[in-house]
This record gives sequence, structure tokens and C-alpha cells, in this order.
Amino acid sequence: MTSLPDPLTVREQQHGVHSLFVKRWSPRAMSGEKVSADELRTLFEAARWAPSTYNEQEWRFLWAEKGTPHWDTFFGVLVEANQEWCEKGSHLVAVIARETFVRNGNENPVAVLDTGAAMQNFLLQAAELGVVAHPMAGFDWENGPKTLNIPDGFRLSAMIVVGKPGDPTELPTELAEREEPTDRKELSKIVQEGLFNFDE
Ligand SMILES: Cc1cc2nc3c(=O)[nH]c(=O)nc-3n(C[C@H](O)[C@H](O)[C@H](O)COP(=O)(O)O)c2cc1C
Repeated sequence: MTSLPDPLTVREQQHGVHSLFVKRWSPRAMSGEKVSADELRTLFEAARWAPSTYNEQEWRFLWAEKGTPHWDTFFGVLVEANQEWCEKGSHLVAVIARETFVRNGNENPVAVLDTGAAMQNFLLQAAELGVVAHPMAGFDWENGPKTLNIPDGFRLSAMIVVGKPGDPTELPTELAEREEPTDRKELSKIVQEGLFNFDE
């Protein structure tokens, strides 16, 4: 069996960053093996510790395990291009943001930002455990929320497939060729001192 590439050998780490940030990536090759209930709980526990405005903790997560009717429902919400490789996943997770403050009912402008922070915690914890966790925006944005029984005031923001690492050569050819940890822009392209002066 061919193993997934190791981001720590492919990616160039700079400025003394913690290796976990570099280790996290979004593979598509999964084996079909189950992620345990304990592992899944650990991922949600990591998400729980994210920072949020007024400690609102706006994130909500729904999950479904492969082989259950819920899995079929969640899977049906994904676009075909994601279904193609997600079928070897173990769990699907819906990442949801509560759009108003519990404290006063006002609109919360950073609900999705905070929820994204929780998702990143989840993804980093998965990398630490050696579990694949691949976030996706490729889902049915119009009907997905209704299908998952998500009420108004809550925004389905992402889906995540979770699974055990698999053999990249078993992916469809064009996906197998892309199964490499990505690189990043130089710091100078995303960070500036002072006022905004980016070209793009
Ligand atoms: C919000 C979000 C949505 C994404 N949607 C998809 C998706 O629908 N399908 C997919 O294959 N990858 C998706 N990705 C994965 C990105 O392509 C990936 O994170 C990016 O290329 C950087 O690579 P890395 O995560 O391996 O470091 C998504 C990532 C994020 C954060």
C-alpha cells in the first residue's frame, strides 16, 4: 500500500512555527476504516476550546457515522465532486454557526469567524491524532440546511469528512495526482506593517 505523503517532509517550515500547523493538511485518500468514538469526541473537545466573542461559543456540530441512515442524509448534501472521494470516510460533520447572540438576540457579525476557529481546532487535533479531517464548502448551500433540520438563525458553514488515512493510488487518477500537501504564499504577500497596500 502507498502511504499518504508526510507534510512535514514536503512543506518548508519557517520562523519556528509549531509543527502541528504544518502537519495539518486536507488529504482525500481514506481507507474506509472507522474512526473511534473516543477519537471523534477528542476532535469535538478540541473545537470546544476555541475563542469566541463574549465566549458565545456559536459553533454547533452535527455528525453522522458511515453505515447509518444519517450518513446517507449527510452524504447526499455534498456535491458530487466531493462524494466521489468521501465515500471512504468514517464520519461526516456539519459545521454550523449560530448567527445571533444568545445574550441579546442581536446579529453576531463574527459568528462564522468564531465557528471557523473551532473548526481549525478540530482539524489540528485530527492532524495530531493522525486522522484525516478534510473541510468542504462543496455542499448544497440551498437545500443542505433544511435537509439537516437546521433552523433559521443558524448557518451551515462547512462540512468535514473524517476518516483513517488511505492509499492515494486508489483515488481517481486526477485526484491521486493532486494528493500532495499544498504550499503557502510568502509572509510578505499576506502581512504588512501599517495601512493596507496589498496588490491582491
Ligand atoms: C472552508 C473550506 C472549504 C473547502 N472546501 C473544499 C471542498 O469542497 N472540496 C475539497 O476537496 N476541498 C475543500 N477544501 C480544502 C482546501 O482545498 C484546502 O484546505 C486548501 O487547498 C489548502 O490545503 P491544505 O488544507 O491541504 O493545507 C476546503 C477548505 C476550507 C477551509
